[in-house]
Amino acid sequence: MRNYKITLIKGDGIGPEIVDEAVKVLDAVASCCELHFEYDEALMGGCAYDITGDPLPQETITKALQSDAVLFGAIGGEKWDTLPREKRPESGLLRFRKELGVYANLRPAVVYDELVNASSLKPEIIKGVDIMVVRELIGGIYFGEPKGRTEDKGWNTMVYTRDEIVRIAHHAFQIAMKRDKRVCSVDKANVLDVSQLWRDVVTEVSAQYPEVKLTHMYVDNAAMQLVLNPKQFDVILTGNIFGDILSDEASMLCGSIGLLPSASVGDKIGVYEPIHGSAPDIAGQGIANPIATIASASMMLRFALGEIQAADKIDNAIKKALSEGYRTGDLAQFDAKEVCSTSEMGSIIANYIER
Ligand code: IPM
Ligand code: MG
Repeated sequence: MRNYKITLIKGDGIGPEIVDEAVKVLDAVASCCELHFEYDEALMGGCAYDITGDPLPQETITKALQSDAVLFGAIGGEKWDTLPREKRPESGLLRFRKELGVYANLRPAVVYDELVNASSLKPEIIKGVDIMVVRELIGGIYFGEPKGRTEDKGWNTMVYTRDEIVRIAHHAFQIAMKRDKRVCSVDKANVLDVSQLWRDVVTEVSAQYPEVKLTHMYVDNAAMQLVLNPKQFDVILTGNIFGDILSDEASMLCGSIGLLPSASVGDKIGVYEPIHGSAPDIAGQGIANPIATIASASMMLRFALGEIQAADKIDNAIKKALSEGYRTGDLAQFDAKEVCSTSEMGSIIANYIER
């Protein structure tokens, strides 16, 4: 029996509903792969603020650092939108990423064959899309100084240091080596000095990966190319804010943002989370799609725990649920045999875990 300590951060909105389904699937996989998960819940986001006055209590960081991985749902909601910036749920998440040093955010956008009709793009454009967005997560304009706000002026600064670019570039090239060996680095080097440095440093690092083909693209063009011809991309390497935007765009190639998982990794422990937000408008209704979180749990098994077989079992069970025609509401219009609730989808996937 292999034992793992998992910190669960359910968060706000649909967070608790979708994390519960991922736990259901993890327990199903545990029982057939000789694994044992010890879960410990921790608070972050609006719910943490409501209880403790802080969107990221110190206890959450401590718990996370003592575990093998963090499985996280989502944070945020209108209720907390008027709080001072440092009290907002989003600030809790950003501080959490920084504290854990998770500089690389891996966001795979893979189109399931079963869902080629679900995208707003034509099936022939998206069938076979398999992109990995590698987003730098703890630098750039999200964190740069100076930043501030007066009544009539607001400012943020996009900063990257050579070291920050070197480490994320290595990460992207190493991922590309296990894929189709193509990296497209996305920047705005025609306008921004920070992007020119990004481009120069990525090019320098690429010399250590002669098998990988490196291209560069301006972010505006990349946004266009993603919908024009997404299959041209293998690994997209980019900074924090460009990666935030492009990964939401990439999710629409796949049919629903409720499908896309992510892994945030660095030198300490990793955070595994869906790329979508807390969707307060549908929270508590039992209609959210839990697949992004379940797929994040699979990434956690694969990358944090090295439990490849268990991860494969989850991925296969998700595919089986989709190919059997089970759909949550977000995908109900697309070849659905049966429309199911959040918890039904979790149970179906759990039952499809191969014994
Ligand atoms: C994401 C989210 C976050 C981000 C928000 C909630 C702070 O949009 O994970 O993509 O901008 O990084
Ligand atoms: Mg985002």
